[in-house]
Amino acid sequence: MEYKVLNNGLKMPMVGLGVYNISERETQRVVEEAIAVGYRSIDTAAMYYNERGVGDAVMACGVAREELFITTKICDACYTREETLRTVDHSMTQLGLDYVDLMLIHWPVGNPTVMWHTLEELYHQGVFKAIGVSNFYPNTLPKIVDDAEVMPVVNQCECHVLFQQREMLEYMKPYGTVLEAWSPLAEGRSGIVRSSVLRRIGEKYGKSSAQIALKFLIQNGIIIIPKTTHKERMQENISLFDFTLSDDDIREIRLLDTGRNVTGWPSDVLRYEI
Ligand SMILES: NC(=O)c1ccc[n+]([C@@H]2O[C@H](COP(=O)([O-])OP(=O)(O)OC[C@H]3O[C@@H](n4cnc5c(N)ncnc54)[C@H](OP(=O)(O)O)[C@@H]3O)[C@@H](O)[C@H]2O)c1
Repeated sequence: MEYKVLNNGLKMPMVGLGVYNISERETQRVVEEAIAVGYRSIDTAAMYYNERGVGDAVMACGVAREELFITTKICDACYTREETLRTVDHSMTQLGLDYVDLMLIHWPVGNPTVMWHTLEELYHQGVFKAIGVSNFYPNTLPKIVDDAEVMPVVNQCECHVLFQQREMLEYMKPYGTVLEAWSPLAEGRSGIVRSSVLRRIGEKYGKSSAQIALKFLIQNGIIIIPKTTHKERMQENISLFDFTLSDDDIREIRLLDTGRNVTGWPSDVLRYEI
């Protein structure tokens, strides 16, 4: 596993397991299996209603807590410090953990500035090892960074070979904020797995199209959190560190960029005027 050093010095695994759309009942089994395969980073959220399963897996897995990197996200539209504290407290209770490695604001809703200052306070208290945002674009990120004492370590946004987010990568450089790709396989839809370009490149390295799509992001310094409930795919999605894409491969994959989100979730600036 390779790690990224975040702007506060914390090391974050380049690959984690996303657990969106996994039922509360199944989550503990999936997360324990992923940890056994070698995953050390898990990405959940209050909105996924499976934080309890993640926390139970962390406690049952037999791997030391400090070797694991647990991310969760608050999604409620909070307008005050008290509302933010309540929603954080709910997540911490569900997880049952003493601390969270990374707490994100899931969407730019409510009053992001007030929410951020409350997260900063809890970060200083050690409740979180790092804090960041998700789905913040140039129209909303200034609400955080213009008034921040602590810069977001990551901005988790839709990103994959069909939506490569090159402008966002440039935009976030001054803040030292890393792009973390959600839906790095475009939800397994939209032809990534069947792409003839990715398949042909994969044949050279003995890798699948999915592995080529994920490796492209990693070679661009982007953290990834592919989701799967299948053990063999967990293994596949983490087996990315024994080959390197050539400059020609990178150039060819760059041409797959459509510049648009494909998942249907709000990812673009226009929908986020607040
Ligand atoms: N911050 C946000 O707003 C936000 C939004 C969306 C997602 N996320 C996070 O990002 C994570 C990943 O995104 P996602 O779950 O939307 O999509 P994804 O990881 O791009 O794709 C997951 C889909 O691809 C399939 N898949 C996984 N590995 C595969 C492989 N090697 N070959 C073929 N198919 C494969 C999975 O099926 P199986 O499960 O059947 O294997 C699943 O249907 C989420 O779980 C969540 O943690 C965050």
